[in-house]
Amino acid sequence: MPAEQNLNIVPFISVENMMDLVLSTGTETFLKELAAYVEEDFRRWDLFDKVARIASHSRDGVIELMPASDGALYAFKYVNGHPKNTKSGRQTVTAFGVLSDVDSGYPLLLSEMTILTALRTAATSAVAAKHLAPKGAKTMALIGNGAQSEFQALAFRSLLGIENLRLYDIDPAATERCRRNLSHLGLNITACRSAEEAVEGAQIITTATADKQNATILSDNMIGPGVHINAVGGDCPGKTELHRDILLRSSIFVEYPPQTRVEGEIQQLAPDHPVTELWKVITGQTTGRESDTQITLFDSVGFATEDFSALRYVYDKLNGSTRFEKLDLLADPDEPRDLFGMLLRRQAAAQNSPEMITA
Ligand SMILES: NC(=O)c1ccc[n+]([C@@H]2O[C@H](COP(=O)([O-])OP(=O)(O)OC[C@H]3O[C@@H](n4cnc5c(N)ncnc54)[C@H](O)[C@@H]3O)[C@@H](O)[C@H]2O)c1
Repeated sequence: MPAEQNLNIVPFISVENMMDLVLSTGTETFLKELAAYVEEDFRRWDLFDKVARIASHSRDGVIELMPASDGALYAFKYVNGHPKNTKSGRQTVTAFGVLSDVDSGYPLLLSEMTILTALRTAATSAVAAKHLAPKGAKTMALIGNGAQSEFQALAFRSLLGIENLRLYDIDPAATERCRRNLSHLGLNITACRSAEEAVEGAQIITTATADKQNATILSDNMIGPGVHINAVGGDCPGKTELHRDILLRSSIFVEYPPQTRVEGEIQQLAPDHPVTELWKVITGQTTGRESDTQITLFDSVGFATEDFSALRYVYDKLNGSTRFEKLDLLADPDEPRDLFGMLLRRQAAAQNSPEMITA
């Protein structure tokens, strides 16, 4: 927690602050520590006030609000998803979020979350894979080599010990960028010419493509026994990545069923198709992987508790740090009910110094 400060000030983590925080921690250490927070909050699942995110869909994208609270802290994230954006130099996904104190309702932190979302998504994928992927998996196919991809690769390296990475993207320039960005880490990286080639010999398959349609990134014949699929890119109604037949052969694990039934790969299945909630595997209430031949699928859509965990982690990391800006966000009159008086005092001050308020 940052040192005591004026009530009007809310610590703000800019993109620059976030990058410095991640780099000074070490990206892989950051992912590991963040994964521990994500996992801890999955263990506290019952405590949370949970709701499927509130999505506003438009022709080319979606804007979503994602709230969650454990009774002591409250968090929400604003996030968009616009696959067409990269063509005009924008990101597909951008985000920011707030962490608040439930007792007073006062925000404790306002943070960029574009980078933090990529980190928390990768950390969550790795937490799920730790419980579901075949033991000793060393090779991962990574299909869709956009903004999320390097974070996924790093999380699977640091939390699961992945050594071999098989990349594929319909845009070879994206694969080349991903390969180059990861080249210093000692991973054995193969750039592939098709998704079929990428999945060859992979024990884990991550899909993180962006397309506003029901795509078929993986077809049934590409999935052998024993594989773990980490499906990240299908996260909206009408936006999926896997052929339905794969789902029918898989044991499916999800974050929060009311949200995943609408947004995840399982929107292709009957509303009562059996799925297992990830938190039950993490707490040991149910088994994850049961055999070497079982196909496990983490149908990831991204749930609000993961953003809560990410903001909680960043807030804890701020303790004693100056790596934030002081945002004058909350009106703080001398006497709490004299909000209008504060405006009058500002007006009186401006009469003496007209340059204070410019039209
Ligand atoms: N589950 C979650 O928690 C979560 C979190 C963040 C993002 N996402 C989703 O993950 C996806 C990737 O996000 P991003 O920020 O990396 O997007 P991005 O636009 O930066 O990258 C997507 C990549 O997918 C590639 N692609 C598109 N169609 C493809 C195909 N048929 N085969 C192979 N590659 C293809 C594109 O060329 C691009 O390089 C998006 O769909 C996003 O909505 C999910």
